Amino acid sequence: MSPIPIVALDVPTRLQALHLLRRLGPRAEWVKVGLQLFCSEGPELVRALHGEGRRVFLDLKFHDIPTTVARAVESAAELGVEMLTLHASGGAAMLRAAREARGSAGPKLFAVTVLTSLDAKPEEVLRFAGTAADAGMDGVVASVHEANQIRRSIGSELAILSPGIRLAGGTAHDQARIATPAEAARAGVDFVVLGRAITASDDPAACLEEVCSVFAATPG
Ligand code: C5P
Repeated sequence: MSPIPIVALDVPTRLQALHLLRRLGPRAEWVKVGLQLFCSEGPELVRALHGEGRRVFLDLKFHDIPTTVARAVESAAELGVEMLTLHASGGAAMLRAAREARGSAGPKLFAVTVLTSLDAKPEEVLRFAGTAADAGMDGVVASVHEANQIRRSIGSELAILSPGIRLAGGTAHDQARIATPAEAARAGVDFVVLGRAITASDDPAACLEEVCSVFAATPG
């Protein structure tokens, strides 16, 4: 299976987010709402995205005491987001509380192992992935470079979502562990988050199209 692309709506306003989506068209089925946009536009924007038929990944990277995170997961579930993130470093009790609060129909929970802007020791990523698997997470956020090791040590029960994707020859910006779409497809990750590779491009639709055709042409 090819990775599913998720476009990061890393823009400050609803107007800019909807404008970007209009430029991208229906290919951008999955969108990511992160800290910047959620702080400026809040749940109303998520409802507007649902109204447009988009599927929402809420990337707020929860990290707090178990009860607080559990209540936040309940609110996100009520809002209807389909995926959300929390930090594996918040600990097993926090992850389990989130899992319980999510219930059977709530959003898929993805635990961040080590941010792709940081250098990570492979054993550190694997330790966090193990904690995430034991706590019943649906997936982990990890760079493409760790995907194989995660698969080897944990198997395929955890979905892998990788940010830090750059088109061949693209600038790294503040990411330390970047990979191309072809590398992501070969590593067999399930989702990729496409941020500045698309949002900073003069032709975001052509970039998304290029990524999708690389996925289609690259066996996993
Ligand atoms: O622009 P770029 O492709 O670097 O954007 C990556 C996106 O993925 C950003 O929205 C960032 O917050 C997010 N992300 C990340 N590393 C993680 C989790 C999410 O870069 N571990």
